[in-house]
Amino acid sequence: MTDRSAAQFNAHADRYATSEVHRAGPSLPVLLRLAAPSREDRALDVATGTGNTALALAPSVQAVTGVDVAGAMLTHARDRAAREELGNVTFRSGDAEALPFPDGTFTLVTSRHAPHHFTHLDRFLAEAWRVLRPGGRLVIADQISPTPDLQAWTDTYQRLRDPSHHAQRPIQDWQALSAAAGFTWTTHEVAPYRLPFGWWTAQSGCTPTTVAALRAHAATLGRAQAQEAGLILDGNGQLTAHHEPMLVVRLDRHGR
Ligand SMILES: C[S@@+](CC[C@H](N)C(=O)[O-])C[C@H]1O[C@@H](n2cnc3c(N)ncnc32)[C@H](O)[C@@H]1O
Repeated sequence: MTDRSAAQFNAHADRYATSEVHRAGPSLPVLLRLAAPSREDRALDVATGTGNTALALAPSVQAVTGVDVAGAMLTHARDRAAREELGNVTFRSGDAEALPFPDGTFTLVTSRHAPHHFTHLDRFLAEAWRVLRPGGRLVIADQISPTPDLQAWTDTYQRLRDPSHHAQRPIQDWQALSAAAGFTWTTHEVAPYRLPFGWWTAQSGCTPTTVAALRAHAATLGRAQAQEAGLILDGNGQLTAHHEPMLVVRLDRHGR
């Protein structure tokens, strides 16, 4: 799946670099507030993409590193850091499930709009725990399925649009997996996103065939389920947008 993510995001890196949804979408201020970064922090942003979260953290922390599997995304991140003259940010290649850092390197780990690509969320959580010092925190922003029952439908929908999508986990899975990794669930909020269908499909390079498949998949839901899934239809029943709930959660790493 990391190969698939690298291929998908290397191909569409230019579009992500200018995407306002990624640069400044509503989960970012919530993530920053829950993370409460300070000058003492050494931060790691996992699956940093074009660096939006790492670059937003930079002015508040001692140093921040961003890792990603897609080299073209990292090139945009480095260019932007240079343009903004942020000298305490570094970007390097790295896999969320095997982070290239010694134990206890960081006081803050973040990952935004990315864990739905990770094949083994338990491995990422174990890695985040390992690279955090005791007393550190992990702050995640990721899209969730509104109910466990809708996950299979949602994953098909997301994967049609972006083959590197792995799983849109409901909040119950996040709670269970983060507890199993040893984290304390300190606080969470759900940031609302409304994504226009045309923008959303163009962003990931969907072909007309894929757009038709997405519309056909949307039509498999009855009216009540479509509403539950957050689909927005016009008067002719045409899909125009969808709501994507974004879980933002702060997990604390207590213990040794
Ligand atoms: C939507 S983009 C990231 C957005 C970015 N975090 C932000 O705040 O704007 C998702 C990123 O996850 C990366 N990715 C996917 N799987 C990964 C993995 N296993 N390890 C590291 N990066 C990964 C992709 O290459 C892509 O750059």
